[in-house]
Amino acid sequence: MQTLTSLPDLRAARAALPEPVGFVPTMGFLHEGHISLARRARAECASVVVSIFVNPTQFGPKEDLAAYPRDLPRDLALLESAGVDLVWTPTPEVMYPPGFQTWVAAEAITQPLEGGMRPGHFRGVTTVVAKLFNVVQPQKAYFGQKDAQQAAVIRRMTEDLNFPIEIVVCPTMREPDGLAMSSRNTYLNPEERRAATVLNRALSAAETVFAAGERDAGRLRQVMSETLAAEPLARPQYVSCADPETLAELNGPIERALLSMAVFMGKTRLIDNRVIENVRKI
Ligand code: PAF
Repeated sequence: MQTLTSLPDLRAARAALPEPVGFVPTMGFLHEGHISLARRARAECASVVVSIFVNPTQFGPKEDLAAYPRDLPRDLALLESAGVDLVWTPTPEVMYPPGFQTWVAAEAITQPLEGGMRPGHFRGVTTVVAKLFNVVQPQKAYFGQKDAQQAAVIRRMTEDLNFPIEIVVCPTMREPDGLAMSSRNTYLNPEERRAATVLNRALSAAETVFAAGERDAGRLRQVMSETLAAEPLARPQYVSCADPETLAELNGPIERALLSMAVFMGKTRLIDNRVIENVRKI
C-alpha cells in the first residue's frame, strides 16, 4: 500500500493504477463503517484509493475541528489489512492553496436537515469532494448511508457536474446494541454511550408502526419524538420524515421516506436514519 501526500506524487501513482478505480473519501479515525466501504470497493474495483483529510471548510466556527480525533498510524494499518492500494493524505495547503476562492455548492437539497443546523457544512463537503474527484478520477466512489443527506447531495452534485463516477451508498454499520458507528462516538461518556442507543430505538419504533400500517408522516415523526423524549439524556435537534431523494419534509400519507434525526448526548451530536418503504406484494 502506498501512502502519498503531495499532489504530483498522487497524480503519478493514480495514472499507473489499473481501472476501474474505487475511491473512499474519509476524514480518518476510521471505524468498521469506513472499512466496510473500502472492502466493498476492493470487491468491485481493480484498484482502491482512500483519502484521509480532515476538511476544515465543512466545520462550523463552533464545531469540533481542532478536537476532531486523529490516529494516522492506526488508520493506515486498518486500510492495509482491507487491501487498499493507495492512501492520499493531502495537507490543507494542497487542498486550499493560497488565494483559494472557488466553491461548489448544491442548493435546495442542502437547505433542510443537517444543512439547516450546520450552515455552510455542505458547501465544504461538495467543494472538497469535487476536488478529490478531480484529482483521484475514480470510476466508483463509496459513501455510507449513515450520512444520508451527504450521500444524496453528492449524488446530486455528481449528476449536475457530469462527473463520470458511479456513487455507491453502503449500509450503516452498527454496534451490537444498534448504535450507528461514528468517529464521534468516542466522545461519549459511559452513561451517554448507553443512552445513545435511543436513536436506533426511535427509528425502529417508527419502522414498526409503519410496518403495522401507519402511513401518516406526522405520526411517524411523533413516534420517533416520543421515544427520544423517554431518554432524559437525549436532546433532539430535529426529527424528520422526508423524501429520500429531495429531502423535502413530507406530510400526510407516505409510501417511502427517509426517517432521520440529530440528537445531542451531552456535547456530542449524533445522527442516524433509516429508509422505509411500502413494498406491495403482487
Ligand atoms: O463523510 C466524511 O467523512 C466527509 O464528509 C467527506 C466525505 C470525507 C468529505 O470531507
